[in-house]
Amino acid sequence: MLAGKRILLIIGGGIAAYKSLDLIRRLRERGAEVRPVLTHAAEEFVTPLSAAALAGAKAYRALFDLTDEAEMGHIQLSRAADLVVVAPATADFMAKMAGGHADDLASTLLMATDKRVLIAPAMNVRMWTHPATQRNLATLQGDGILTVGPNDGDMACGEYGPGRMAEPLEIVAAIEAALADGPLKGRHIVVTSGPTHEPIDPVRYIANRSSGAQGSAIAAALAGLGANVTFITGPASVPPPPGVHVIRVETAAQMLAAVTVALPAEAAIFAAAVADWRVANAAGSKMKKDGSGRAPALEFAENPDILATVSKLTKGRPRLVVGFAAETDDVLTNATAKRARKGCDWIVANDVSPGTGIMGGTENAVTLLSEAGAETWPRLPKDEVARRLAARIAEALA
Ligand code: CTP
Repeated sequence: MLAGKRILLIIGGGIAAYKSLDLIRRLRERGAEVRPVLTHAAEEFVTPLSAAALAGAKAYRALFDLTDEAEMGHIQLSRAADLVVVAPATADFMAKMAGGHADDLASTLLMATDKRVLIAPAMNVRMWTHPATQRNLATLQGDGILTVGPNDGDMACGEYGPGRMAEPLEIVAAIEAALADGPLKGRHIVVTSGPTHEPIDPVRYIANRSSGAQGSAIAAALAGLGANVTFITGPASVPPPPGVHVIRVETAAQMLAAVTVALPAEAAIFAAAVADWRVANAAGSKMKKDGSGRAPALEFAENPDILATVSKLTKGRPRLVVGFAAETDDVLTNATAKRARKGCDWIVANDVSPGTGIMGGTENAVTLLSEAGAETWPRLPKDEVARRLAARIAEALA
């Protein structure tokens, strides 16, 4: 699958660097050519010799070297790749990337490249959750940089939590998705997914049972056909797929803002279960019982309808806008009315009555409604529904 693909692998200075040696092997097993570049700090953990031996190619080092520049200049090195991968991406390296530094070979390559960049962050859990790292991550994602991981787990430093680098095979899957060739190659598609959380006060919120499974599967299927996917997700229980550009939000208002920033796109798929209402009188501090036995009255305000807003754009409307209709009664009648009301091109309608086990389950039974009429698909696993839908989207955008 990666035959002939050229990966420029920047190895950062973290304990997870040892896994990057395995990553080189896994990539080569799949036919990729790997050019390793070690940062100065990486050499404290692994040697250029082991990276070069596994890659079967020269390993480049932190500082500019006149011999290297004569053989292949840093600009050419940064462009003669199909994808640039940074693994592990340490907190410090992410900060350098976000700040646009170019003070050694690795950071200069990243500034000079015209190729897509995938990072596999790895660091202590507190470093990962630190506001500075999260700010840098948001900046990098805003720049279109792809991420894989980090995972939750036991860490080399003895702590537990998010920060562990994704496993080599997960990074391979993300690389395959980023390099996927297919009918949607280079097409930008926005996908929303998951529930939204609407705060009642700083510790409580209103949510729904959406797992995000169908949205994740659709994003994965589109990426598998080569699309450049911006995946805007609420707090879902199913993780985002590898190889997509992930933007995490909590509320409907944040989701609309993220979609607006992500456009233009050729298609937009609105699989999120957006809360229709938010709490208008959400409290700024935790609500307390006042001893009277009276429950607080919540007031609701209607959330912006993201699907309708995008469908009705007069400028910059995606060519194809797809909505979902989760219904419990009169599925077809309601979904047909919803398509007209919201102004989208297609509606994927499904019956989410409790007896169907669809909401939160692994299967889906959908009817695709378009101008051409209604087409009912058999009950299928959610990833098969996603593949069929992605194939239809590819046909529509052809
Ligand atoms: N949607 C959206 N923004 C909202 C509400 C819904 O983008 N504020 C999108 C969903 O992502 C989905 C479609 O609209 O693609 C249908 O959502 P659904 O909840 O089924 O419809 P409602 O607008 O809630 O209509 P109703 O209350 O009549 O079911």
